[in-house]
Amino acid sequence: MNIVLLGAPGAGKGTQAAKLVEDAGLCHISTGDILRQAVKDETELGLKAKAFMDAGDLVPDDLIIDLMRERIDQPDTAKGVILDGFPRTTTQAVALDSMLSDLGRPLDAALLIDVDPEVIVKRLSSRRMCRECGHIGTASDAKCPVCGGEMYQRDDDNETTVRNRLDVYEKSTSPLVDYYRGCDLLITIDGDRDPDVVYKDVKGALGL
Ligand code: AP5
Ligand code: MG
Repeated sequence: MNIVLLGAPGAGKGTQAAKLVEDAGLCHISTGDILRQAVKDETELGLKAKAFMDAGDLVPDDLIIDLMRERIDQPDTAKGVILDGFPRTTTQAVALDSMLSDLGRPLDAALLIDVDPEVIVKRLSSRRMCRECGHIGTASDAKCPVCGGEMYQRDDDNETTVRNRLDVYEKSTSPLVDYYRGCDLLITIDGDRDPDVVYKDVKGALGL
């Protein structure tokens, strides 16, 4: 099964992807996680991406498409993928169609996790992530509940940058809702409920 997770920053894409990985054994590809690792490692990609990410802007399509073309060709994707944070523009969506068609693996669904922007601003100001295992938590987690690692706040989770990320989502990424509706792949889930309740709907919608 190959799934695109769509949704504004903070909608809960990473949270739902982690549950899907545990349940369905799919391969989770988060372009945001790959880019943050590249920034940390100061690779060529990381050095090019950092300023865009710090501002809450999109990293240019050509860099992201090259990165995904390489990642989606790895053997661990054969069992099916959850694409979290990709595609984010129509150009990226068209490129993904061509990558999947080359691999002979069609997309099964584009799952939109729908949450009001004001709810998101509050959520992201209190998000914390584990430096060791990447667990997504909140400011109430003094240590990572999974591995005991240190929890940190992402550089782009301040209110000014979050508001820019939401504007960028509206302008560049939300047109993908119509794109995937047109392909008859869109499934919309109300993401403003308890994460486990949201997940129950996600599973139901995917027939898991
Ligand atoms: P990325 O890392 O993808 O960030 P994002 O899309 O802005 O999404 P987030 O990771 O912030 O949110 P999420 O939906 O995963 O929510 P989460 O589950 O963590 O991208 C970062 C940057 O990289 C971009 O700005 C861009 O610069 C660049 N980039 C990445 N991909 C790119 C691409 N394809 N093209 C160009 N540039 C790209 O949850 C958020 C919080 O809410 C957590 O605290 C969580 O515990 C909580 N929460 C989750 N679900 C619920 C719920 N149901 N109820 C209450 N709280 C909840
Ligand atoms: Mg995420």
